[in-house]
Amino acid sequence: MDLKSSPVASPLAGHYRPPGDKSVSHRLALLSALAKGTSHVRGFLDSADTIATAVATEALGARIEWTRTPQGFDLVIEGGDLHAPQAPLDFGNSGTGIRLMAGLLAGLGSHPKFTNQCIQLTGDASLSRRPMMRIVEPLQALGGDIDASHGCAPLFVRPRQLSGQTQTLKVASAQVKSAILLAALNASGETRVIEPAPSRDHTERLLQAYGVEVDRISETEVSVFGGQTLESGVFEVPGDISSAAFVMAAGLLVPGSDIVLEHVGLNPTRDGILRVIDAMGGAFDVRVDARSTGEPIGTIAIKSASLKGHGIPPEWVPLAIDEFPIIMGMAALAEGETSIVGAEELRVKESDRLALMCSELLKLGVDVEETSDGALVRGGRVKGGVVECGGDHRIAMTFAVLGLVAQSPITIRDAHWMQTSYPGFVDDLNRLGAQLEWLA
Ligand code: S3P
Repeated sequence: MDLKSSPVASPLAGHYRPPGDKSVSHRLALLSALAKGTSHVRGFLDSADTIATAVATEALGARIEWTRTPQGFDLVIEGGDLHAPQAPLDFGNSGTGIRLMAGLLAGLGSHPKFTNQCIQLTGDASLSRRPMMRIVEPLQALGGDIDASHGCAPLFVRPRQLSGQTQTLKVASAQVKSAILLAALNASGETRVIEPAPSRDHTERLLQAYGVEVDRISETEVSVFGGQTLESGVFEVPGDISSAAFVMAAGLLVPGSDIVLEHVGLNPTRDGILRVIDAMGGAFDVRVDARSTGEPIGTIAIKSASLKGHGIPPEWVPLAIDEFPIIMGMAALAEGETSIVGAEELRVKESDRLALMCSELLKLGVDVEETSDGALVRGGRVKGGVVECGGDHRIAMTFAVLGLVAQSPITIRDAHWMQTSYPGFVDDLNRLGAQLEWLA
């Protein structure tokens, strides 16, 4: 379905609560399935990606009671008694789901219900193009028996008894780190992961919330001993700062806007967007209100501002990895130049985000140049027009935000891909005063 986003006549205003964090929701489904006993997960994200992961755990024997709430779902998960699934596990569009599940399954070889089983993990066309050797190789190094067809999904996992090891990663990737840490839970001895730069640390925090001892040696080095048991419990999902980023951008860009974002996850390994907004001259106040399930949760009050272009240093890239489509969108309307470097990982997300953002911004008259590891965006005006989102939820939402301040409406083709992470995006933005309209 196509979406039309039209310039707004008045400011955006109001209170807003983002949907549950996608990364945390995936992990809570997986860890609750592993933990013996009953876990309660509050505010689980209602999205295609996270539902795919939870349904995969059901196919492995976790019993889930789903209750719909205004915040997504409350789940009651009976875990700890898993078995091999009857059919391939389908993760749809979700890189996090398939990679973390591969790690979790790889080490279950000493479990009688997994011996001599081969489990197939599949996904949609986009997921089947994304690189999987980044998890296959480290899992094989631990003694895992896992194959990828031509380096991509489908994956074939034959659970084995693993031995702990030190793994030094080439890219700062929380998905790779987490796949290894989940495998390490069932490996003998110690497994260490060393990253080139800090990546999001939800897995470390959540493992600790389930009673696992995690040695956080430094910001880039973590160690876990195998053979530990996970304890079930009550867990809360913070609001997703990556979803909130679109609303923050809308508030900054639409003149006169004033929005209060509540219950936002403020994990310091996820807050790169706040550093970028600050560097671009954005006006906001942020405060931590609570800590829940190991994660800081807080309020961000944001007002419109005249943004200025800024160089984004490479060390901020992993801390804002999912926010680059909207950062490029803000840069298109900022005064001066924004340069992005060291961001080649963006080429292997749900789409090649560097190529697609540049091609679609060009269609709207933006002065943008793609480089091998980033882009140069020279801000100015954004014209109306028709853009493609390439099946990428974050690109669809970025152009929906730009339509609010473009010279004429922007139509985003196949924008229904937003359901990957944020099915309520259109309703939430319209409640704040936007004019987004689904076209038949
Ligand atoms: C995620 C990690 C990031 C991010 C993705 C979710 C996670 O990927 O882009 O949307 O939940 O661990 P990488 O760790 O591969 O950069």
